[in-house]
This record gives sequence, structure tokens and C-alpha cells, in this order.
Amino acid sequence: MGMFNNKTGFKLFGFSGPTIRKSTVCLLGVFLIGIVACQQSAVRTKLDIPPKQPEAIIEEKAEKPGAFEITDAQCILCHPKQPQTIKAYGGKHETEVGCSDCHLEHPPKGTKAVPECGMCHSEKAHYQLDQCVSCHTDTHAPLNLIFEGEISEPCLTCHMQQGDEVANHPSAHTEMACNECHAEHRKVPNCMECHSKHTEDMNFESCKSCHPVHMPLVVTYSEDTPSEYCGACHGEALSLLEQNTTKHHDLSCVYCHKNKHKTVLSCYACHDKSHPDALMQKIPSCAACHDTAHNLNRL
Ligand code: HEC
Ligand code: HEC
Ligand code: HEC
Ligand code: HEC
Ligand code: HEC
Ligand code: HEC
Ligand code: HEC
Ligand code: HEC
Ligand code: HEC
Ligand code: HEC
Ligand code: HEC
Ligand code: HEC
Repeated sequence: MGMFNNKTGFKLFGFSGPTIRKSTVCLLGVFLIGIVACQQSAVRTKLDIPPKQPEAIIEEKAEKPGAFEITDAQCILCHPKQPQTIKAYGGKHETEVGCSDCHLEHPPKGTKAVPECGMCHSEKAHYQLDQCVSCHTDTHAPLNLIFEGEISEPCLTCHMQQGDEVANHPSAHTEMACNECHAEHRKVPNCMECHSKHTEDMNFESCKSCHPVHMPLVVTYSEDTPSEYCGACHGEALSLLEQNTTKHHDLSCVYCHKNKHKTVLSCYACHDKSHPDALMQKIPSCAACHDTAHNLNRL
């Protein structure tokens, strides 16, 4: 992060006076901070609120000639909260930048006291959003996110795929905002927070095995899906097969209705040439003799 390397502090009052030697700056700084610290603690013992005192001091000192530099380590003397927050939750705002990389100037003279995010974050689509601080509510804890209201579009600056899935496969979930399900970032809800199960023995994993959550009507399933799951909605098919005494009894629903919901194969897909062509031309319907696949007759 070469661009931030050289900065160790800034001129508190933006005063450009004669050059002062470093040691003088240092002494003067320590002295001033001593005063401020004493004043503050004295007031604090009486009132438990931030005193007006330092402000007054700043105003007063600003009138006087001579600039001095404040280093990042010294901000804490008057601003105890931000350095603590940064230490606990600052992430890269602690490791990659310092206080005075963002706070280029200081009141009352400085006008660039609070930075725009775009000063350092530009280019990516995500950085073109409005209202950065509506989600990144504290710049000193940049990854402590809060989602308020209905949020979808901003998520797509990073999660294109999920956005496409939802848009290209209309379902009731398409009508929902992303954060109706993901109330916190990276938190995933359980289906049963909003739905009941088709059968008692299903769990979250089974729901996902049939329903891709962002396109829940595109139902697909694996070959080990129990027939009881299908029977929850297709009770007649299940009971006919359970009572059937032919070899179809031993086959699962998904063996014949492969992979994708509503797939139906014809008898020929599995029974090529069961009977001579002459017979089949005369009576083309298998059902005429065997009834249905579920209610199969062995003749
Ligand atoms: C001597 C005490 C003192 C020191 C040291 C000090 N500040 Fe301040 N700072 C204040 C006071 C008092 C205010 C409120 C001034 C005002 O509102 O006009 C303030 C205000 C601010 C603000 C708010 C600006 C705004 O527009 O809301 C920022 C940001 C800030 N300081 C950053 C820093 C940083 C960064 C450092 C260290 C590099 C630092 N300060 C060092 C006393 C200090
Ligand atoms: C990555 C940039 C960045 C860094 C690093 C940073 N700040 Fe800030 N600071 C901000 C922004 C932006 C604000 C405006 C309010 C907000 O978004 O939290 C702010 C606000 C402040 C305020 C005013 C608080 C208020 O409630 O108005 C103070 C004081 C302050 N910062 C001090 C510090 C100190 C001390 C450090 C170093 C320990 C520091 N900041 C590091 C960006 C930064
Ligand atoms: C002085 C430059 C500077 C400013 C101003 C600044 N940032 Fe950053 N920020 C950085 C750097 C450098 C990084 C680390 C590299 C990166 O992720 O791009 C970073 C990282 C982050 C991260 C990821 C933190 C992590 O630990 O992974 C977030 C989130 C972030 N910034 C949000 C913001 C927001 C929101 C603002 C405005 C309120 C802002 N930044 C203002 C310099 C800045
Ligand atoms: C709708 C909420 C939201 C808004 C608005 C928002 N962000 Fe973010 N931002 C996020 C989320 C979520 C992440 C991912 C955090 C994670 O990885 O844990 C993130 C990550 C980041 C990161 C670190 C990862 C990266 O890709 O760089 C930076 C920097 C950042 N945001 C800057 C900004 C800036 C600048 C703005 C305003 C222009 C902004 N964000 C607006 C939600 C938001
Ligand atoms: C700045 C980029 C960014 C933005 C904006 C963003 N995310 Fe993320 N999100 C990430 C990253 C990075 C991960 C981690 C991906 C990984 O581990 O592969 C993630 C992971 C997730 C996860 C996965 C959790 C898991 O266990 O797999 C969910 C859910 C998620 N984000 C939802 C959202 C929602 C909802 C929004 C909008 C409110 C959003 N994200 C906005 C960057 C972002
Ligand atoms: C109806 C609830 C619901 C809605 C609405 C929803 N999600 Fe999800 N999302 C989930 C669940 C549940 C998972 C976990 C899926 C899994 O583990 O297979 C998930 C997983 C994710 C993941 C992790 C990667 C993945 O695809 O499994 C991301 C990223 C994500 N969602 C982003 C979004 C975004 C962006 C939106 C809005 C466009 C959104 N989600 C809308 C419930 C939802
Ligand atoms: C935060 C609540 C919420 C969560 C979590 C959620 N859904 Fe939904 N889902 C809804 C709402 C609301 C509807 C529309 C009303 C209804 O059918 O109950 C819906 C509808 C559906 C539909 C019918 C879609 C249509 O267009 O007819 C399916 C299928 C579905 N959800 C499956 C799931 C699965 C599977 C999960 C977990 C992976 C899940 N949902 C998680 C709220 C949720
Ligand atoms: C064996 C596959 C399968 C499993 C496992 C499964 N579903 Fe379904 N689900 C379906 C099918 C098929 C539909 C009907 C889709 C249609 O109408 O096109 C459906 C419909 C739904 C609907 C729409 C309303 C309704 O009842 O018709 C919801 C909500 C739903 N499932 C939620 C869940 C939840 C929650 C779970 C996990 C407990 C789950 N599903 C597990 C296959 C499955
Ligand atoms: C939540 C209820 C539900 C579940 C669970 C369910 N289905 Fe369905 N299924 C339906 C609905 C609704 C239809 C459409 C009925 C209609 O169009 O009359 C349907 C239709 C079908 C059809 C007929 C397609 C056609 O063209 O006539 C087949 C085959 C089918 N399902 C097989 C299965 C299989 C196999 C399973 C288990 C993996 C399963 N279903 C699970 C609700 C469900
Ligand atoms: C041996 C293969 C086979 C098995 C096993 C099977 N089916 Fe079918 N199913 C078919 C065929 C073939 C049809 C088309 C109608 C016909 O000719 O019987 C069909 C039709 C259907 C239909 C639509 C017509 C109707 O009868 O409602 C549904 C729904 C259905 N099956 C569900 C199921 C379910 C649920 C199971 C498991 C309990 C199941 N099937 C097991 C082959 C099978
Ligand atoms: C997805 C493949 C599949 C489909 C579709 C299918 N079957 Fe079968 N069928 C089988 C299998 C496997 C057997 C058992 C073969 C064995 O064990 O030798 C079987 C056995 C049979 C038997 C002999 C039963 C017995 O107990 O001896 C008949 C008759 C039969 N099928 C007729 C049909 C008819 C009629 C249809 C269409 C309505 C049909 N099948 C659809 C796979 C299928
Ligand atoms: C005219 C009545 C008739 C029709 C139509 C008919 N079958 Fe059969 N099928 C029988 C009889 C009788 C048997 C038992 C005698 C035998 O083993 O040949 C049988 C046996 C079978 C067997 C089990 C024999 C074996 O090879 O293991 C299968 C599989 C079968 N039929 C499939 C079909 C299919 C598929 C169709 C439609 C293309 C069909 N049948 C149409 C009368 C019929």
C-alpha cells in the first residue's frame, strides 16, 4: 500500500508556519497532550460526558502561531472510542491504513475531516452503490454489516449467479428480497422457518436435494430418493405399487421417473421387443393387456 506509507500524522490546524524541527514538534506535542489529558480527566471526574474543554483548547491554540503534528497514536487521547473499535473490528482498515490516511485534516480549520469511500474504493460495480454507510454502518468496523429495508440489487454486485437463478426461474421466491431470507450476511435460513414438511422424516438436507432454493420449482432428485417422499403428494401411485405383486413393486418411483420432476418414460424405453412385432401391430397399447405401470398385470 505504497500510497499510504509516508503519512504518520497531519497538521492539526492546517497552519503552515515556519518549519519546526522534529524534536520541537515532539516536545510540544507531548506537552499539549499532557494538558489535554489532564483537563479531560479532571472534567470527567465531575461529569461523565465528553467535556467541551478540548474543543475550547483547540480553538484557542488555533489562534496562536506554530503548527504541530499529531500522530495516529495520539488521537486516542481525545477520541477513545474509534481506536478501540478499530482494534477490535477494523480488519483491513486497521492493517492497511491509518487514522490520518482517511482523516486528512482536522477541525476546526480542516475541511477534509471525513473521507469519501470513493477516495480509495473505485472501479468495481460494488463501489458505485449509493449510501455505503447504510450497510457499512461504522467505517471503523467495516465488516460489521447491517441490512435494513428490502435489499436485492446491491447483493448482485457480488452474487450474479444467484441473481440470475432467481430472475430466470420465476417462483414465489423471485418476489422476495434477498435479505428476507438472508437477514445477516452469510447466514442461511432453514426452509422450515417458513414451510412445513411434505413428510415427517424430511430435514433441511432433503428439501435442498429436490429444490434448488433460488429456483424452487426446478425440482430434480437423486436416484436414492425414497418413494415415500413422492407418495406425500401421489398417494394413489404409491399404494398401487405397494399392493402390486409384479416386479414393478420392487422399483422406486425415481427409477422410472428419472432425475427431474414430471419425467414420464414410455414402456418401450425399458422394454424393447418384449413381444413379436406382429402382436404389437395388432394391439399397440401395452395397457390393453398389462394395465398401467403402477397397477401392472402379470399375465
Ligand atoms: C487535542 C484533542 C484532539 C486530538 C489529539 C485529536 N482530536 Fe479529533 N477532535 C477533537 C475535538 C474537540 C473534535 C470536535 C471538533 C469539532 O466538532 O469542531 C474533534 C473532531 C474530530 C473529527 C470529527 C470531524 C467532523 O467533521 O465530524 C475527526 C474525524 C477527528 N477529530 C479525527 C481525529 C484524528 C484522526 C486524530 C488523530 C490523528 C485526532 N482527531 C486527534 C479533539 C482532538
Ligand atoms: C478507512 C477510513 C478511516 C479510518 C482508517 C479511520 N476513520 Fe475515523 N471516520 C471515517 C469516516 C468515514 C467517518 C465518518 C463516520 C463514519 O462513517 O463512521 C469517521 C469518523 C470519525 C470520527 C468522528 C466520529 C463521529 O461520531 O462523528 C472520529 C473522532 C474518528 N473517525 C477518529 C478516527 C481515529 C482516531 C482513527 C484511527 C484510530 C480513525 N478515525 C480511522 C473513516 C476512517
Ligand atoms: C484512505 C483510504 C480508504 C478509505 C477512505 C476507505 N477505505 Fe475501505 N479499505 C481501504 C484499504 C486500503 C482496504 C484494504 C484493501 C481493499 O480491500 O481494497 C480497505 C478495505 C475495506 C473493506 C474490507 C475490510 C476487510 O477487513 O476486509 C471494507 C468493507 C471497506 N474498506 C469499506 C469502506 C467504506 C464503506 C468506506 C467509506 C465509508 C471506506 N472503506 C473508506 C482504504 C480505504
Ligand atoms: C447493501 C449493502 C451494502 C452497501 C450499500 C455497500 N456494501 Fe460494501 N459490502 C457489502 C457486503 C455484504 C460485503 C461483503 C462482506 C463480506 O465479504 O463479508 C461488502 C464488502 C465490501 C468491501 C470489501 C470487499 C470488496 O469486494 O472490496 C468493500 C471495500 C466495500 N464493501 C465497500 C463499499 C463501498 C465503497 C460502498 C459504497 C459505494 C459499499 N461497500 C456499499 C454490503 C454493502
Ligand atoms: C462485496 C461483495 C459482496 C456483497 C455485496 C454481498 N456479498 Fe454475500 N458473500 C461475499 C463473499 C466474499 C462471500 C463468501 C463466499 C465464499 O465463501 O465462497 C459471501 C457469501 C454469502 C453467502 C454464503 C454463506 C454460505 O454459507 O455459503 C450468502 C448467503 C450471502 N453472501 C448473501 C448475500 C446477500 C443476501 C447479499 C446482499 C444483502 C450479499 N451477500 C452481498 C461477498 C458479498
Ligand atoms: C427463500 C429464501 C431465500 C431467498 C429469497 C434467497 N436465498 Fe440465498 N440461500 C437461501 C438458502 C436456504 C441457501 C442455502 C442453499 C444451500 O445450502 O444449498 C442460500 C444460499 C445462498 C448463497 C450461497 C451460495 C449458494 O448459492 O448456495 C448465496 C451467495 C445467496 N444465497 C445469495 C442470495 C441472493 C443474492 C439472493 C437474492 C437475489 C438470495 N440469496 C435469495 C435462501 C434464500
Ligand atoms: C423466509 C421465508 C422462506 C424461507 C426461508 C423459504 N421459503 Fe419457500 N416460500 C416462501 C414464501 C413466502 C412462498 C410463497 C407462499 C407459499 O407458497 O408458502 C414460498 C414458496 C415456496 C415454493 C413454491 C414456489 C411457487 O412459486 O409456487 C417452494 C417450492 C418453496 N417455497 C420451497 C422452499 C424451500 C425448499 C426452502 C428452503 C431451501 C424455502 N422455500 C425457504 C418463503 C420462504
Ligand atoms: C422428493 C422431492 C422433494 C422433496 C425432498 C421436497 N420437496 Fe417440496 N415439492 C416437491 C415437488 C415435486 C413439489 C411440487 C412442485 C410443483 O407443483 O411443480 C413440491 C412443492 C413444494 C412447495 C410448494 C407448496 C406445495 O406444498 O405444493 C413447498 C413450499 C415445498 N415443496 C417445500 C419443501 C420443503 C420445506 C421441503 C423439505 C422439508 C421439501 N419441499 C422437500 C418435491 C420435493
Ligand atoms: C409437494 C407435492 C409433490 C411431490 C412431493 C411430488 N410431486 Fe409429482 N406432481 C405434483 C404436482 C402438483 C403435479 C402436477 C399434477 C397435474 O399436473 O395434474 C405432479 C406431477 C407428477 C407427474 C406427472 C407428470 C405428467 O405429465 O402427468 C409425475 C410422473 C410425478 N409428479 C412424479 C413425482 C415423483 C417421482 C415424485 C418424487 C420424486 C414426485 N412426483 C413428488 C406434486 C408433487
Ligand atoms: C416401472 C416404472 C414406474 C414406477 C416404478 C413408477 N411409475 Fe409412475 N408412471 C410410469 C409410467 C410408464 C407412467 C405413464 C402412465 C402409464 O402408462 O402407466 C407413470 C405415470 C405416473 C404419474 C402420472 C399419471 C398418474 O398415474 O397419476 C404419476 C403422478 C406417477 N407415475 C407417479 C409415480 C410415483 C409417485 C411412483 C412411486 C410411488 C411411481 N410413479 C412409480 C412408470 C412408473
Ligand atoms: C424405467 C424402466 C421401466 C419402465 C418405463 C417400465 N418398466 Fe416394466 N419392468 C422394468 C424392470 C426393471 C422390470 C423387471 C425386469 C426383470 O427383473 O427381469 C420390469 C418388468 C415388467 C414386467 C414383468 C413383470 C413381472 O413381474 O414379471 C412387465 C409385464 C412390464 N415390466 C411391463 C411394463 C409396461 C407395460 C410398462 C409401461 C406401462 C413398463 N413395464 C414400463 C422397468 C420398466
Ligand atoms: C395382447 C396382450 C399383450 C399386449 C398388448 C402386451 N403384452 Fe406384454 N405380455 C403379455 C403376456 C400374455 C405376457 C406373459 C407371457 C410371456 O411371458 O410372454 C406378457 C409379458 C410381458 C413381459 C414380461 C416377459 C419378459 O420378457 O420377461 C413384458 C416386459 C411385457 N409383456 C411388456 C409389454 C410391453 C412393453 C407391451 C407394450 C409394448 C406389452 N407387453 C404388450 C401380453 C401382452
